[in-house]
Formats: sequence, structure tokens, C-alpha cells
Amino acid sequence: MSDNTFAKDIHKGLSAPLKHISSKYFYDDIGSGIFQEIMKMPEYYPTACEFEILSMQGSEIIQRLNFNAPFNIVEFGAGDGIKTRQLLKKLVETNVDFSYVPIDISKKAIEALEANMLEHLPDLKIRPMIGNYFSMIEELSHSGVPSLFLFLGGNIGNYEVHEVNSLLASFNQCMKTGDKLLTGFDLQKNPSTIRYAYDDPKGITKAFNINLLHRINRELGGNFKTSQFDFYSFYNPVNGEVRSYLVSLVKQKVHIQRTDKCYDFEQNELIRTELSKKYTLPEIENSASANGFTVMEHFLDCKHYFTDSLWVK
Ligand code: TRP
Repeated sequence: MSDNTFAKDIHKGLSAPLKHISSKYFYDDIGSGIFQEIMKMPEYYPTACEFEILSMQGSEIIQRLNFNAPFNIVEFGAGDGIKTRQLLKKLVETNVDFSYVPIDISKKAIEALEANMLEHLPDLKIRPMIGNYFSMIEELSHSGVPSLFLFLGGNIGNYEVHEVNSLLASFNQCMKTGDKLLTGFDLQKNPSTIRYAYDDPKGITKAFNINLLHRINRELGGNFKTSQFDFYSFYNPVNGEVRSYLVSLVKQKVHIQRTDKCYDFEQNELIRTELSKKYTLPEIENSASANGFTVMEHFLDCKHYFTDSLWVK
């Protein structure tokens, strides 16, 4: 991503009536490091739940694919790939003929993932693709090889409802009849469990959000005084939405060299950072059928906190 896109997005977000910073900017090197810490926190359950699903039920998921080999497993936003590896391991061990095709816009992320996968699974056929999800699936759809698409983690929960529908509809458009999609959905549960996962007592989540401001200072020459911002996150059990914000503690002005603009903050003014939507099973089924899919099976962890749901086009 060019610095210019970052500068433009930040300018747009900080000039809006309700200020916002896109959650994709959490993950610079420092932010990715803090996210690793979040995933290790006892309060942050999603990673462990999905790890359990993929390592305990990998064989069942694979059986349901019913593909005549060879096939592709195409992954959007693979991250460190540790969870996906649990699934791939089963396939490599049983000598199934398939290729793993991770897609990411970051060349660095893809190279690290490839090296890491091959270190653990030297016999894995891996064909990484660098670029935009849709142009890549479009390219793959011409190959005629059956595919399982993976959209794991909390990923889908970070999109607004209307965005979820256009994303799923675009996935569907690029898929062939019989192709499968395995998507991770965090499920609604005891509201307190969710609240602590997104606002931990040690302040790691706060640091993760405040890093957005440090990043603007580092990369765009901003002069945010980060001690003058707090973090606030709120789970609404009625609609299943966790919304996270930065809060300006005082009336202040911030200057960003790169955009050569000043941004005014009122005391207690918010910067919206992320939505993390928690689903019910009926909501998931509605999203599937509204976008041209049929649910084959929900694979839940033993606590029923999370599902990897397998859909077919
Ligand atoms: N995308 C992750 C999620 O929704 C990131 C995340 C974890 C996060 N904790 C957070 C984002 C707190 C904002 C605030 O689970």
C-alpha cells in the first residue's frame, strides 16, 4: 500500500463529521506484534476456538468437500497461517492432490507465510497470489479446477452489514457451481465474555488502538499526543455489534505534515476504529441464502463460541 493511499484515507477519515480510521491500518509491524499479544490473552477467545475447530474437525470438513482431486484451497487474508495449517496438514498427510493458494495484497506477508508453511509442510504445493481478492478469484475461476475458498478468523465480522452482502455476492459471482466457501463467524454469547475480549484489563487492546495514532505520527508526520486519547469499546448484545473508538480527552488540534492539514478535536470527540459483529446461526443462514449459497454445515467449537460455516454455491 502506498503512503499516499494511507495519507488520503486518514485525511478523509479525520475530516468526516464522525471521524474514523479504517481497521486495516491496525496491522503495521508494531500493530501486528500487539495483535499477536491480543491473540495470547485469556480474554480473547476467537483464535483458540477456531484453532480447535480446524484441528479437531479438519477431516470432517475435508470429507464434506467431496471434490475429485486435484483442487485448490484459496485463502483470503491468511495472516500467520497457523490455523489454516491444521487443515492443510491433514490433506498433505493423506496425499490428497491439491494446491494451496493464499491471496494477500502485502508481498511481505505472503513471502513470510510461504516460508513458514513450507518449513512445517515441505510437501505442500503452494501457489501464492499477490493482489486484490476479486481480480485474483476472477483469474482462478477460468482454471476449471474446483475450489474451496477460506475466509477465516473474525474477518467477516469487521464489515458493515451492507458490505458483507456485497462481499459475499462478489465471492459468489467469481465462484463456480459446486465450489465451497468456509467462513469464520464469531457467535453471540454471554455479553460479558465478548466485552472483555475487546477491552482487556491490561490495556493491550487499548495499545492496539492507540498504535493507529503512533503510526500516523511515524509515517505521516502527525503530532498526536497519544496520552490525550483514551480507548472505549462497547458491545451491544441486541444487535451483536462490538464498536471500538478512540476518545479525545481534551479539546485539541492535531497537525499532519503529509496532508499539511490541521484537524480539530472537541473534548470527548470520537474516532471510530472498528466494528466486530457477532452473529447468530439464523443470521448466518440468511446471509448465505441472500447471496446465492446453501449452508452445508456449521462446524462449532466445544463451547459454541465460534463457527466455521461451510457453504456451497
Ligand atoms: N479483527 C479483530 C477482531 O475483530 C481485531 C481486534 C481484536 C480488535 N480486538 C480488538 C479491534 C479491539 C478493535 C478493538 O476480533
